[in-house]
Amino acid sequence: MMTTLIFATNNDNKVKEIRSVLQGKFHVISLKEAGIFVDVPEPYNTLEENASEKSRVIYLMTGKDCFSEDSGLEVNVLDGAPGVRSARYAGDANNPEMNIEKLLHEMDGKVDRRARFRTVISLRLFGQEKQFDGICTGTITMLQQGSAGFGYDPVFLPDGGDKTFAEMDLAEKNLFSHRKKATEKFLDYIKESSWPG
Ligand code: IMP
Repeated sequence: MMTTLIFATNNDNKVKEIRSVLQGKFHVISLKEAGIFVDVPEPYNTLEENASEKSRVIYLMTGKDCFSEDSGLEVNVLDGAPGVRSARYAGDANNPEMNIEKLLHEMDGKVDRRARFRTVISLRLFGQEKQFDGICTGTITMLQQGSAGFGYDPVFLPDGGDKTFAEMDLAEKNLFSHRKKATEKFLDYIKESSWPG
């Protein structure tokens, strides 16, 4: 039987993306599917601390193996902003349209459009934490292109790609994705530590 892992998130897009990598290896369930209806806090200024806090809270609540992830878009010319505040860049509501609008406005006239997505996964097995990160470098486009994906996908062109994340299906995004890279490190670790078994 496949091991179940609770993914400490309410973001269905993140669940879909991570499930596509862990499919057939782990049974991943979201907080909703685990019957946990909480908005897990993200009180810190780093992805590492927020990821750790999310998995810690869910482990304390359930006593079960779980993982979380915190991610963000880091723009060179904005000194790494929006970074850990990516979801709420334009205000508390986590409105992706307004976040993109603010980003394009902040980058108006900027020649250097380099940016990167970064994900930190915090895995808790038997309460013990291990973290994995994944980075995808790219550039911020001048205009929005595409409608797939979520968040800043319509304005992010990954290095080596010829379209934005929002113009790619999941398999294509996975060729570049920060989240995919972090999840693969997670899988390598599990393989090396021969857990579960
Ligand atoms: P959090 O990890 O829940 O704090 O939020 C991460 C935020 O970063 C999302 O709401 C998006 O705005 C942004 N983000 C992270 N990963 C991606 C991605 O793969 N595509 C587009 N936006 C992303």
